Amino acid sequence: MGVNILGIETSCDETAAAVVVDGAEIRSNIISSQVDVHQKFGGVVPEIASRKHLELITPVIEEAMEESGLKFADLDAVAVTYGPGLVGALLVGVAAAKALAYGLDLPLLGINHIEGHIYANFAVTPDLEFPLVCLVVSGGHTDLVYMEKHGNYQVLGKTRDDAAGEAFDKVARTLGLGYPGGPLIERLAQSGDPGAIELPRAYLEKGSLDFSFSGLKSAVINFLHRARQRGEQVNQADLAAGFQQAVADVLVDKTIEAAKGAGVSTILLAGGVAANSKLRKDFMDKAGHLSLRVHVPPLILCTDNAAMIACAAYYKFLRGSFAPLTLNAVPSLKLGEERYEGNFRRIVF
Ligand code: KG4
Ligand code: ZN
Repeated sequence: MGVNILGIETSCDETAAAVVVDGAEIRSNIISSQVDVHQKFGGVVPEIASRKHLELITPVIEEAMEESGLKFADLDAVAVTYGPGLVGALLVGVAAAKALAYGLDLPLLGINHIEGHIYANFAVTPDLEFPLVCLVVSGGHTDLVYMEKHGNYQVLGKTRDDAAGEAFDKVARTLGLGYPGGPLIERLAQSGDPGAIELPRAYLEKGSLDFSFSGLKSAVINFLHRARQRGEQVNQADLAAGFQQAVADVLVDKTIEAAKGAGVSTILLAGGVAANSKLRKDFMDKAGHLSLRVHVPPLILCTDNAAMIACAAYYKFLRGSFAPLTLNAVPSLKLGEERYEGNFRRIVF
Protein backbone atom coordinates (compact mmCIF):
# COMPACT_ATOMS: atom_id res chain seq x y z
CA MET A 1 0.00 0.00 0.00
CA GLY A 2 1.41 3.36 -1.02
CA VAL A 3 1.24 6.70 0.77
CA ASN A 4 -1.69 8.66 -0.70
CA ILE A 5 -1.38 12.41 -0.29
CA LEU A 6 -3.86 15.12 -1.28
CA GLY A 7 -1.96 18.30 -2.20
CA ILE A 8 -3.51 21.78 -2.28
CA GLU A 9 -1.97 24.91 -3.87
CA THR A 10 -3.46 28.44 -3.85
CA SER A 11 -0.44 30.74 -3.43
CA CYS A 12 -1.09 32.94 -6.47
CA ASP A 13 -3.64 32.71 -9.28
CA GLU A 14 -4.09 28.96 -9.79
CA THR A 15 -6.47 26.96 -7.61
CA ALA A 16 -5.02 23.46 -7.66
CA ALA A 17 -5.47 20.07 -6.02
CA ALA A 18 -3.81 16.74 -6.77
CA VAL A 19 -3.57 13.22 -5.42
CA VAL A 20 -0.12 11.65 -5.59
CA VAL A 21 0.90 8.17 -4.43
CA ASP A 22 4.42 7.75 -2.99
CA GLY A 23 5.48 11.15 -4.31
CA ALA A 24 5.60 9.92 -7.90
CA GLU A 25 2.38 8.36 -9.14
CA ILE A 26 0.21 11.33 -10.06
CA ARG A 27 -3.38 10.05 -9.85
CA SER A 28 -4.90 13.48 -10.51
CA ASN A 29 -3.60 17.02 -11.06
CA ILE A 30 -6.42 19.59 -11.31
CA ILE A 31 -5.48 23.20 -12.03
CA SER A 32 -8.07 25.93 -12.36
CA SER A 33 -6.33 28.99 -13.74
CA GLN A 34 -7.62 32.49 -13.08
CA VAL A 35 -5.55 33.96 -15.91
CA ASP A 36 -8.64 35.15 -17.82
CA VAL A 37 -9.87 37.07 -14.80
CA HIS A 38 -6.56 38.87 -14.16
CA GLN A 39 -5.61 39.39 -17.81
CA LYS A 40 -7.56 42.62 -18.21
CA PHE A 41 -5.65 44.15 -15.27
CA GLY A 42 -2.25 43.15 -16.72
CA GLY A 43 -1.33 41.13 -13.63
CA VAL A 44 -2.68 39.32 -10.59
CA VAL A 45 -5.05 41.37 -8.40
CA PRO A 46 -4.66 39.82 -4.91
CA GLU A 47 -8.18 40.51 -3.65
CA ILE A 48 -9.78 39.03 -6.77
CA ALA A 49 -7.46 36.00 -6.53
CA SER A 50 -8.65 35.26 -2.97
CA ARG A 51 -12.31 35.49 -3.95
CA LYS A 52 -11.80 33.20 -6.92
CA HIS A 53 -9.92 30.66 -4.77
CA LEU A 54 -12.89 30.64 -2.37
CA GLU A 55 -15.29 29.84 -5.20
CA LEU A 56 -13.07 27.17 -6.73
CA ILE A 57 -11.36 25.37 -3.89
CA THR A 58 -14.11 22.86 -3.05
CA PRO A 59 -14.96 21.85 -6.64
CA VAL A 60 -11.25 21.57 -7.50
CA ILE A 61 -10.59 19.28 -4.51
CA GLU A 62 -13.68 17.20 -5.33
CA GLU A 63 -12.54 16.82 -8.93
CA ALA A 64 -9.02 15.82 -7.86
CA MET A 65 -10.45 13.14 -5.57
CA GLU A 66 -12.87 11.87 -8.19
CA GLU A 67 -10.23 11.67 -10.92
CA SER A 68 -7.80 9.90 -8.59
CA GLY A 69 -10.22 7.01 -8.14
CA LEU A 70 -9.52 7.16 -4.39
CA LYS A 71 -11.89 8.00 -1.57
CA PHE A 72 -11.19 10.49 1.21
CA ALA A 73 -10.89 7.47 3.51
CA ASP A 74 -7.95 6.21 1.39
CA LEU A 75 -5.85 9.32 2.07
CA ASP A 76 -2.83 9.19 4.38
CA ALA A 77 -2.22 12.95 4.66
CA VAL A 78 -3.25 16.39 3.45
CA ALA A 79 -0.56 18.82 2.25
CA VAL A 80 -0.84 22.52 1.50
CA THR A 81 1.33 25.43 0.37
CA TYR A 82 1.52 27.86 3.32
CA GLY A 83 4.04 30.32 1.81
CA PRO A 84 5.50 32.26 0.12
CA GLY A 85 2.70 33.90 -1.81
CA LEU A 86 -0.27 36.23 -1.51
CA VAL A 87 -1.62 36.06 2.03
CA GLY A 88 -5.32 36.08 1.12
CA ALA A 89 -4.77 33.44 -1.56
CA LEU A 90 -2.67 31.18 0.70
CA LEU A 91 -5.26 31.40 3.50
CA VAL A 92 -7.94 29.77 1.35
CA GLY A 93 -5.81 26.66 0.70
CA VAL A 94 -4.55 26.51 4.27
CA ALA A 95 -8.08 26.72 5.70
CA ALA A 96 -9.34 24.01 3.32
CA ALA A 97 -6.42 21.69 4.15
CA LYS A 98 -6.83 22.18 7.89
CA ALA A 99 -10.57 21.50 7.71
CA LEU A 100 -9.96 18.28 5.78
CA ALA A 101 -7.13 17.13 8.07
CA TYR A 102 -9.29 17.81 11.13
CA GLY A 103 -12.46 16.27 9.70
CA LEU A 104 -10.70 13.16 8.36
CA ASP A 105 -8.27 12.92 11.31
CA LEU A 106 -5.28 12.96 8.96
CA PRO A 107 -1.81 14.42 9.42
CA LEU A 108 -1.28 17.88 7.93
CA LEU A 109 1.87 18.86 6.01
CA GLY A 110 2.86 22.50 5.39
CA ILE A 111 4.84 22.94 2.17
CA ASN A 112 6.97 25.83 0.91
CA HIS A 113 5.89 26.77 -2.63
CA ILE A 114 9.50 26.92 -3.88
CA GLU A 115 10.19 23.52 -2.34
CA GLY A 116 7.17 22.30 -4.30
CA HIS A 117 8.62 23.64 -7.58
CA ILE A 118 11.91 21.82 -6.89
CA TYR A 119 10.08 18.57 -6.09
CA ALA A 120 8.24 18.57 -9.42
CA ASN A 121 11.51 17.00 -10.59
CA PHE A 122 11.25 14.18 -8.05
CA ALA A 123 7.69 13.46 -9.19
CA VAL A 124 9.19 12.53 -12.56
CA THR A 125 12.55 11.10 -11.42
CA PRO A 126 12.29 9.93 -7.80
CA ASP A 127 15.84 8.56 -7.66
CA LEU A 128 17.70 11.80 -8.47
CA GLU A 129 21.20 11.73 -7.05
CA PHE A 130 22.33 14.14 -4.33
CA PRO A 131 24.07 16.50 -4.00
CA LEU A 132 22.55 18.62 -6.73
CA VAL A 133 21.96 22.21 -7.77
CA CYS A 134 18.50 23.53 -8.65
CA LEU A 135 17.60 26.74 -10.46
CA VAL A 136 14.12 27.91 -9.43
CA VAL A 137 12.82 30.52 -11.88
CA SER A 138 9.26 31.73 -11.44
CA GLY A 139 7.20 34.90 -11.37
CA GLY A 140 8.33 35.75 -7.86
CA HIS A 141 11.67 33.94 -7.47
CA THR A 142 15.03 33.35 -9.09
CA ASP A 143 17.00 31.16 -6.70
CA LEU A 144 20.02 28.91 -7.12
CA VAL A 145 19.75 26.20 -4.49
CA TYR A 146 22.21 23.52 -3.37
CA MET A 147 20.65 20.36 -1.94
CA GLU A 148 22.72 17.82 -0.03
CA LYS A 149 19.74 15.61 0.77
CA HIS A 150 15.94 15.69 0.90
CA GLY A 151 14.58 18.75 2.69
CA ASN A 152 18.00 20.42 2.90
CA TYR A 153 18.39 23.72 1.05
CA GLN A 154 21.30 26.12 0.81
CA VAL A 155 20.56 29.21 -1.27
CA LEU A 156 23.71 29.97 -3.31
CA GLY A 157 22.32 32.97 -5.15
CA LYS A 158 19.11 34.88 -5.76
CA THR A 159 17.84 37.88 -7.66
CA ARG A 160 18.66 41.27 -6.23
CA ASP A 161 15.68 42.91 -7.94
CA ASP A 162 13.18 41.45 -10.44
CA ALA A 163 12.57 37.71 -10.70
CA ALA A 164 13.13 36.29 -14.19
CA GLY A 165 9.40 35.67 -14.72
CA GLU A 166 8.59 39.16 -13.48
CA ALA A 167 10.97 40.60 -16.11
CA PHE A 168 9.24 38.50 -18.82
CA ASP A 169 5.85 39.80 -17.63
CA LYS A 170 6.93 43.46 -17.51
CA VAL A 171 8.63 43.39 -20.90
CA ALA A 172 5.55 41.67 -22.40
CA ARG A 173 3.32 44.39 -20.96
CA THR A 174 5.49 47.12 -22.52
CA LEU A 175 5.33 45.30 -25.85
CA GLY A 176 1.53 45.22 -25.48
CA LEU A 177 1.44 41.41 -25.50
CA GLY A 178 -0.68 40.74 -22.41
CA TYR A 179 -0.35 38.52 -19.32
CA PRO A 180 1.32 36.22 -18.41
CA GLY A 181 4.21 37.43 -20.51
CA GLY A 182 6.55 34.43 -20.60
CA PRO A 183 4.70 32.23 -23.11
CA LEU A 184 3.79 35.28 -25.26
CA ILE A 185 7.40 36.47 -25.48
CA GLU A 186 8.52 32.93 -26.26
CA ARG A 187 6.06 32.70 -29.16
CA LEU A 188 7.00 36.12 -30.57
CA ALA A 189 10.73 35.36 -30.20
CA GLN A 190 10.43 32.34 -32.49
CA SER A 191 10.35 34.63 -35.52
CA GLY A 192 13.02 37.01 -34.21
CA ASP A 193 16.81 37.23 -34.40
CA PRO A 194 18.30 37.09 -30.89
CA GLY A 195 21.45 38.88 -32.05
CA ALA A 196 19.80 41.78 -33.89
CA ILE A 197 19.46 44.13 -30.90
CA GLU A 198 22.27 44.30 -28.38
CA LEU A 199 21.05 44.02 -24.78
CA PRO A 200 22.96 43.92 -21.47
CA ARG A 201 23.64 40.82 -19.39
CA ALA A 202 24.21 41.38 -15.66
CA TYR A 203 26.81 38.93 -14.38
CA LEU A 204 27.53 41.13 -11.30
CA GLU A 205 30.79 40.81 -9.34
CA LYS A 206 33.16 38.00 -10.22
CA GLY A 207 32.12 34.80 -8.46
CA SER A 208 28.66 36.12 -7.50
CA LEU A 209 25.80 33.70 -8.07
CA ASP A 210 23.19 36.43 -7.59
CA PHE A 211 21.04 37.68 -10.44
CA SER A 212 19.73 41.07 -11.57
CA PHE A 213 17.16 41.53 -14.33
CA SER A 214 15.95 45.10 -13.76
CA GLY A 215 18.75 46.60 -15.91
CA LEU A 216 17.87 44.34 -18.82
CA LYS A 217 14.17 45.07 -18.39
CA SER A 218 14.83 48.84 -18.37
CA ALA A 219 17.10 48.53 -21.43
CA VAL A 220 14.25 46.89 -23.38
CA ILE A 221 11.70 49.46 -22.21
CA ASN A 222 14.05 52.39 -22.99
CA PHE A 223 14.83 50.97 -26.43
CA LEU A 224 11.11 50.86 -27.20
CA HIS A 225 10.38 54.33 -25.82
CA ARG A 226 13.27 55.92 -27.73
CA ALA A 227 12.18 54.30 -30.98
CA ARG A 228 8.58 55.42 -30.45
CA GLN A 229 9.69 59.00 -29.74
CA ARG A 230 11.65 59.04 -32.99
CA GLY A 231 8.71 57.50 -34.81
CA GLU A 232 10.83 54.48 -35.76
CA GLN A 233 9.41 51.00 -36.32
CA VAL A 234 10.72 48.37 -33.89
CA ASN A 235 11.00 44.74 -34.89
CA GLN A 236 9.22 43.37 -31.83
CA ALA A 237 10.17 39.78 -32.61
CA ASP A 238 13.89 40.70 -32.60
CA LEU A 239 13.46 42.55 -29.31
CA ALA A 240 11.62 39.59 -27.72
CA ALA A 241 14.26 37.15 -28.99
CA GLY A 242 17.11 39.37 -27.78
CA PHE A 243 15.53 39.73 -24.33
CA GLN A 244 14.82 36.01 -24.00
CA GLN A 245 18.40 35.17 -25.02
CA ALA A 246 19.88 37.63 -22.53
CA VAL A 247 17.86 36.07 -19.69
CA ALA A 248 18.72 32.53 -20.80
CA ASP A 249 22.46 33.27 -21.11
CA VAL A 250 22.76 34.53 -17.54
CA LEU A 251 20.59 31.77 -16.06
CA VAL A 252 22.47 29.00 -17.86
CA ASP A 253 25.97 30.38 -17.23
CA LYS A 254 25.43 31.04 -13.53
CA THR A 255 23.77 27.68 -12.92
CA ILE A 256 26.64 25.83 -14.60
CA GLU A 257 29.12 27.90 -12.60
CA ALA A 258 27.25 26.97 -9.40
CA ALA A 259 27.26 23.26 -10.29
CA LYS A 260 30.96 23.32 -11.12
CA GLY A 261 31.78 25.27 -7.95
CA ALA A 262 29.81 22.83 -5.80
CA GLY A 263 31.29 19.84 -7.62
CA VAL A 264 27.91 18.37 -8.55
CA SER A 265 26.88 16.79 -11.83
CA THR A 266 23.08 17.02 -11.51
CA ILE A 267 21.17 20.22 -12.30
CA LEU A 268 17.42 20.64 -11.82
CA LEU A 269 15.30 23.37 -13.36
CA ALA A 270 12.03 24.38 -11.78
CA GLY A 271 9.30 27.04 -11.84
CA GLY A 272 7.21 28.68 -14.54
CA VAL A 273 10.14 30.12 -16.53
CA ALA A 274 11.60 26.60 -16.82
CA ALA A 275 8.72 26.02 -19.27
CA ASN A 276 10.63 28.24 -21.75
CA SER A 277 11.84 26.03 -24.58
CA LYS A 278 14.84 28.23 -25.51
CA LEU A 279 16.04 28.11 -21.91
CA ARG A 280 15.57 24.35 -21.80
CA LYS A 281 17.44 23.89 -25.07
CA ASP A 282 20.35 26.14 -24.07
CA PHE A 283 20.67 24.27 -20.78
CA MET A 284 20.74 20.90 -22.52
CA ASP A 285 23.28 22.15 -25.10
CA LYS A 286 25.72 23.92 -22.78
CA ALA A 287 25.50 21.56 -19.79
CA GLY A 288 25.48 18.49 -22.03
CA HIS A 289 28.92 19.49 -23.37
CA LEU A 290 30.23 19.44 -19.82
CA SER A 291 28.67 16.05 -18.94
CA LEU A 292 26.27 17.68 -16.50
CA ARG A 293 22.84 16.02 -16.28
CA VAL A 294 19.98 18.51 -16.56
CA HIS A 295 16.47 17.58 -15.43
CA VAL A 296 13.40 19.67 -16.27
CA PRO A 297 9.83 18.72 -15.36
CA PRO A 298 7.19 18.51 -18.12
CA LEU A 299 5.51 21.86 -18.81
CA ILE A 300 2.41 21.12 -16.71
CA LEU A 301 4.62 20.53 -13.64
CA CYS A 302 6.74 23.69 -14.24
CA THR A 303 3.97 26.22 -13.70
CA ASP A 304 1.94 26.24 -10.49
CA ASN A 305 0.25 22.94 -9.65
CA ALA A 306 -0.57 20.82 -6.61
CA ALA A 307 1.09 17.56 -7.70
CA MET A 308 4.46 19.15 -6.88
CA ILE A 309 3.13 20.03 -3.41
CA ALA A 310 1.95 16.46 -2.76
CA CYS A 311 5.31 15.17 -4.02
CA ALA A 312 7.34 17.42 -1.68
CA ALA A 313 4.95 16.41 1.11
CA TYR A 314 5.69 12.71 0.61
CA TYR A 315 9.34 13.17 1.64
CA LYS A 316 8.25 15.28 4.62
CA PHE A 317 5.76 12.56 5.52
CA LEU A 318 8.57 10.01 5.55
CA ARG A 319 10.55 12.29 7.88
CA GLY A 320 7.49 12.69 10.15
CA SER A 321 7.67 16.46 9.73
CA PHE A 322 3.99 17.28 10.27
CA ALA A 323 2.37 20.68 10.82
CA PRO A 324 -0.02 21.54 13.64
CA LEU A 325 -3.66 22.40 12.96
CA THR A 326 -2.76 25.94 13.98
CA LEU A 327 -0.81 26.27 10.70
CA ASN A 328 -1.11 29.75 9.24
CA ALA A 329 -0.23 31.37 5.91
CA VAL A 330 3.31 32.85 5.89
CA PRO A 331 3.57 35.16 2.84
CA SER A 332 7.35 35.68 3.23
CA LEU A 333 8.28 32.08 4.08
CA LYS A 334 11.93 31.34 3.26
CA LEU A 335 13.12 28.12 1.68
CA GLY A 336 14.16 25.62 4.35
CA GLU A 337 12.45 27.39 7.24
CA GLU A 338 9.40 26.00 9.08
CA ARG A 339 7.14 28.60 10.62
CA TYR A 340 4.50 26.68 12.47
CA GLU A 341 2.52 28.22 15.26
CA GLY A 342 1.23 26.45 18.35
CA ASN A 343 1.94 22.90 19.43
CA PHE A 344 1.92 19.77 17.36
CA ARG A 345 -1.25 17.78 17.57
CA ARG A 346 -0.52 14.17 18.36
CA ILE A 347 -1.75 11.95 15.55
CA VAL A 348 -2.66 8.35 16.22
CA PHE A 349 -2.34 6.15 13.12
O1 KG4 B 1 5.93 29.18 -11.20
P1 KG4 B 1 4.86 30.05 -11.75
O2 KG4 B 1 3.70 29.39 -12.45
O3 KG4 B 1 4.25 30.95 -10.65
C1 KG4 B 1 5.03 31.56 -9.65
O4 KG4 B 1 5.32 30.86 -8.65
O5 KG4 B 1 5.41 32.73 -9.87
O6 KG4 B 1 5.61 31.07 -12.73
C2 KG4 B 1 4.90 32.05 -13.43
C3 KG4 B 1 5.90 32.82 -14.25
C4 KG4 B 1 5.30 34.02 -14.96
O7 KG4 B 1 6.12 35.14 -14.74
C5 KG4 B 1 5.30 33.60 -16.42
O8 KG4 B 1 5.43 34.68 -17.32
C6 KG4 B 1 6.51 32.69 -16.47
O9 KG4 B 1 6.47 31.97 -15.25
N1 KG4 B 1 6.45 31.74 -17.59
C7 KG4 B 1 7.34 31.73 -18.61
C8 KG4 B 1 6.89 30.75 -19.52
N2 KG4 B 1 5.75 30.17 -19.02
C9 KG4 B 1 5.50 30.79 -17.83
N3 KG4 B 1 8.43 32.48 -18.83
C10 KG4 B 1 9.12 32.26 -19.97
N4 KG4 B 1 8.75 31.35 -20.90
C11 KG4 B 1 7.66 30.58 -20.73
N5 KG4 B 1 7.31 29.69 -21.65
ZN1 ZN C 1 5.13 29.03 -8.57
